[in-house]
Amino acid sequence: MILSSTQTIPEHSAVPRHLAIIMDGNGRWATRRLLPRTAGHMRGVQSVRRVVEGCGKAGVKYLTLFAFSSENWRRPSDEVSLLMRLFVQTLEKEVHKLEKQGVRLRVVGDLSRFEPKLQQLIKDAEEKTAHNDTLHLTIAANYGGRWDILNATRQLLLAQPELAQHPEKITEADFSEYLSMAFAPEPDLFIRTGGEQRISNFLIWQLAYTELYFTDVYWPDFGAKHLQTAFEWYQNRERRFGRTSAQL
Ligand code: IPE
Ligand code: IPE
Ligand code: MG
Repeated sequence: MILSSTQTIPEHSAVPRHLAIIMDGNGRWATRRLLPRTAGHMRGVQSVRRVVEGCGKAGVKYLTLFAFSSENWRRPSDEVSLLMRLFVQTLEKEVHKLEKQGVRLRVVGDLSRFEPKLQQLIKDAEEKTAHNDTLHLTIAANYGGRWDILNATRQLLLAQPELAQHPEKITEADFSEYLSMAFAPEPDLFIRTGGEQRISNFLIWQLAYTELYFTDVYWPDFGAKHLQTAFEWYQNRERRFGRTSAQL
């Protein structure tokens, strides 16, 4: 069972065990260069490669990347289509490499809205890399923190309908088992690129005690050196989990 930051004091080390990133700023990166927004998304894939590699080297065990939110369907349809195509292409191209690098890939979110081909590619990629354990890479796609919480509630009640009669018996542990990130510890470090300081419906339950790091760097410009800077910042945080400084 994965320990919870509110039920126990989680162990933590100099390097985050779990890093969660909102990869933001692709569109503005492109617009600044008088390029279509989609050029920024394409360029952003290179940053994903750099960050996966950097995390592997640093010894991060879990890396979770927000690729498409449940609200991103509101974007112009040509941008949404390009993002879906890019997702398909990247899976087709990269899975073999990830497998060899010891990366276990998972995709979390409401996948039912994706076209069958993409759903199948995701399933295949997860199966192909299921034996790996060096780095657990999770892509959040059509993901929303509120969807996750509602979904977990529904799954819990479906599995244990008697709890509806005894809601006082529901524990945090029972509930969190049904969240889509139940296999991972809670994120130690969160990074959002692109200058905005908000969570945008990412892992709202899991970020309860995560250190939040915001940078103005646009995602396509983000690389190993920026990652290193974020890790150094993280090392200087005092993670109190509710206690006082003197108690640490
Ligand atoms: C993040 O970059 C990628 C996705 C949300 C898919 P944006 O596309 O949000 O870039 P900005 O924020 O408009 O610059
Ligand atoms: C959050 O970025 C989602 C992803 C990076 C996938 P957005 O660009 O969609 O967030 P808002 O709309 O600025 O909050
Ligand atoms: Mg954005």
